[in-house]
Amino acid sequence: MIAEELHLKNFRSYESCSISFSEGMNIITGNNAAGKTNLLESLVYLSLTRSHRINDDSQLIHYGTKYAQISCSFKDGIEKKISALIRPDGKTLLIEKQPVKRSSEFVGMLNVVLFAPDDLGVFTDAPRARRRIMNQEITKISPKYLAALTDYQNLLKERNSLLKNSMPDGRMLEVLDAQMIQKSAVIIQARKAFAVGISQYMKPQYMNLSDEDTDCRLKYVSCIDTDESDVKQQLERMYFDSRQRDIENHVTGFGIHREDLIFELDHRGVTEHASQGQKRMMMLAFKMSLLQFIEDASKKKAVFLLDDVLSELDRNRQQKLIELTSGKWQCIITATELPAYLKMNSIKEFRIRDGKIETGGSE
Ligand SMILES: Nc1ncnc2c1ncn2[C@@H]1O[C@H](COP(=O)(O)OP(=O)(O)O)[C@@H](O)[C@H]1O
Ligand SMILES: [Mg+2]
Repeated sequence: MIAEELHLKNFRSYESCSISFSEGMNIITGNNAAGKTNLLESLVYLSLTRSHRINDDSQLIHYGTKYAQISCSFKDGIEKKISALIRPDGKTLLIEKQPVKRSSEFVGMLNVVLFAPDDLGVFTDAPRARRRIMNQEITKISPKYLAALTDYQNLLKERNSLLKNSMPDGRMLEVLDAQMIQKSAVIIQARKAFAVGISQYMKPQYMNLSDEDTDCRLKYVSCIDTDESDVKQQLERMYFDSRQRDIENHVTGFGIHREDLIFELDHRGVTEHASQGQKRMMMLAFKMSLLQFIEDASKKKAVFLLDDVLSELDRNRQQKLIELTSGKWQCIITATELPAYLKMNSIKEFRIRDGKIETGGSE
């Protein structure tokens, strides 16, 4: 898909702004705090129906105004237009000006993949952050996954509140367990396909970017052994075996809400063994593999957003990145200045000045 026109009204630092992207490389320049990340954040919001930076939507509304609006038209075989209206008390999502009932109809319609310097934190964060990546990315391509995950989360809440009792109803627990097993099987199968699908691209991507012949992959740490095919039986055994302990501990101590995803470089966890530069290359290889995975799974290309990352790469790597992405995906890159070697005809340049966007750049 290709993002075409983006309109912002009272979103973050923008009172009103319109931008018309090119199909290929776009670069948005501006000083610190000019509003570069805000602009990418608006596209992330349309993709995920949430910001990647904050949980409280009211912070997205321009100071002193009542609501924010993001609208974007894009080409996806046919022309489409989606918008989000953000009020302090909630949001309305619209497809072709019609409000949608469920956000699952909206998530991933405009599919973007963002790479930002903060992403490196994911390596050292708690497992929850890595589960969030899996959930977020799989949700964008699979409404079935989102439905299973939502059901699982509700069942988990119910199970945990049942376990708060000193003598929980055993029959009730059995009923809940049977439902959770069903949902878990869907989730595990999708998470496994995600890790395997991404890993097949990561090694070549990493080698292309770094010139290191190093094995680079994602390891899915599941609550069961995913190399075996009897997923349901394993889950049944696990639920049966843990029931007594859960009753004693008053909480569900295992399951898909405790899983993890490990980034490995040469079969070792990246957190302990990789240099900062290797971590950066690994995250970049992951994001590029994600773009390919999305294309395989949905037959649609996502839009690649790169927030302020050029300055962190040496010149050689910057050029490699541009080479590897240009012509393959629509890219929207932010930077304080446009690097001189990038001043070529095929890049569309925008500059943010005083909260307004000028086409044509710094000259
Ligand atoms: N709700 C808001 N209303 C008005 N301005 C905001 C709002 N939220 C953030 N800002 C402003 O946006 C600026 C930061 O924008 P950002 O896109 O992060 O900058 P950068 O160009 O460095 O990426 C700050 O000056 C901040 O005050
Ligand atoms: Mg920024």
